[in-house]
Amino acid sequence: MGLQLEPSFVQEAEHRPEPTISDAGAIPLVDLSSPPPTLIADIEAACRDWGFFQVVSHGVPLELLEGVQSMAKEFFSLPLEEKKRVQRDEENPVGYYDTERTQEVRDWKEVFDFTVKETFHIPVTEEDGRVRWREVRNQWPEHPPGMREACKEYRKAMEDLSFRLLELIALTLKLPPNRFNEFFKDTTSFIRLNHYPPCPSPDLALGVGRHKDAGALTVLAQDDVEGLDVKRKSDGKWVRVKPIPNSYIINIGDMVQVWSNDKYESPEHRVSVNSEKERFSIPFFFNPAYYTNIKPLDDLITEENPARYDEFNWGEFFMGRSNSNFKKLGVENTQIHHFKKKV
Ligand code: OGA
Ligand code: NI
Repeated sequence: MGLQLEPSFVQEAEHRPEPTISDAGAIPLVDLSSPPPTLIADIEAACRDWGFFQVVSHGVPLELLEGVQSMAKEFFSLPLEEKKRVQRDEENPVGYYDTERTQEVRDWKEVFDFTVKETFHIPVTEEDGRVRWREVRNQWPEHPPGMREACKEYRKAMEDLSFRLLELIALTLKLPPNRFNEFFKDTTSFIRLNHYPPCPSPDLALGVGRHKDAGALTVLAQDDVEGLDVKRKSDGKWVRVKPIPNSYIINIGDMVQVWSNDKYESPEHRVSVNSEKERFSIPFFFNPAYYTNIKPLDDLITEENPARYDEFNWGEFFMGRSNSNFKKLGVENTQIHHFKKKV
């Protein structure tokens, strides 16, 4: 990315990271080994008040995370030409890239994406406007050896943890615990290895610009370098998330917002960078099957609580929402509020 900040990375003045970030209020901490009534009450409060929380006693073996973390470090330290051998392109949306944009401004990061299913389908809109599903495959690098295996084991653990969290969220909504499971049979979940190199102008650029995650839930592992900022619902202030060893950061995505008919909102967040330290993070994006149609759950809709969204298709939403570098610039990304019913 060079030592000088190119103009494409510079955030508009209003979106630059303010030098003063409230670090007073930490996001909620949830102990997954708490007895069920406490656990459900804690998760309900965390989802309602923040949409963001950290979990401990989650049962994911630390070696699995450390395995992927060391593979990520090795992979990103390879020469650019080597990484580009698994670069994503017009045909395949997963692999390596360092050109992502969020809200039109380039992110100060490089990324390797892989999906949970080795083959998966993406919707492609034909000239006549019809949607066709195209099969694509993960691209695994030759180096470091063992990366594919380490990633496979880790993603299974992430899927298990996500199903557990989703079951708890269903319980907080007074739904049967498996209420959401049917949407995830042919899941489009994916994992992203993020590398945020030291940045010469951390006051002008962001690792990831402000955004909301599109899917159901995100389970994020970060290293011990802080950088994730969450917009606090109560006062709209940016709060820096403090790393806690062997914890995962969970946030609600747009789909849970719609299913819950806005009881839980998908929170805005961003990643700040710093001039000294590089940072690594690994989000697991827990996403429904492409063919899933999404709307507020009938079980939650009453006369007093009418559906606030029109039904839409997840695959089409996601492809319109992705900040892919091959998307036309100047077109606003699809956002969940575009599906709000007019009142
Ligand atoms: C993301 C994201 C946070 C982080 O990739 O969507 O919010 O700490 N990442 O890397
Ligand atoms: Ni995010």
